[in-house]
Amino acid sequence: YGDPSQKVDYVFKVVLIGDSAVGKSQILARFARDEFSLDSKATIGVEFQTRTMVIQHKSVKAQIWDTAGQERYRAVTSAYYRGAVGAMLVYDITKRQTFDHIPRWLEELRGHADKNIVIILIGNKCDLEDQRAVSTEDAKEFAEKEGLFFLETSALNATNVESAFVTVLTEIF
Ligand code: GTP
Ligand code: MG
Repeated sequence: YGDPSQKVDYVFKVVLIGDSAVGKSQILARFARDEFSLDSKATIGVEFQTRTMVIQHKSVKAQIWDTAGQERYRAVTSAYYRGAVGAMLVYDITKRQTFDHIPRWLEELRGHADKNIVIILIGNKCDLEDQRAVSTEDAKEFAEKEGLFFLETSALNATNVESAFVTVLTEIF
């Protein structure tokens, strides 16, 4: 998970956003440390973690920012988005409401971030297929309409977590 001595060609800031409890912090824990916790606490303020990866023969340091989905724990919005070149818009496939709120998150993102920011829509918790409340087709259609990349992930079993980050980081290039 990233040799600290390796030289870095690029540093890319990527932000995670979406409702509370959709799994943003666990997606980040899976990506940055290959860890997962079922009793993850709600994020307060802003945290970030980094991981250096090789993408198209260049060493890319991904600096991933994570904030609270809960309004009362959120930090200053403009500072969070400043300098971000990628964004992951996360909902929980078992909670319809978290998908229904995506247009609001997208509006906030588009209001604060650079207009060229690369955005991926992520339907997390795809390990809970028996509790699915948002169809893959609905999400795919929304993503296409809004010009977003789209993947379903599971931080629990690691499905597509790496692919989601690689998709964003490759497109930023
Ligand atoms: P806030 O910090 O409040 O915005 O929430 P968050 O989006 O960071 O959610 P967090 O990562 O803390 O995860 C919330 C809960 O969902 C925790 O109990 C996690 O263990 C669980 N969880 C996260 N990802 C997955 C997943 O892929 N599958 C399953 N089954 N549970 C998950
Ligand atoms: Mg969190």
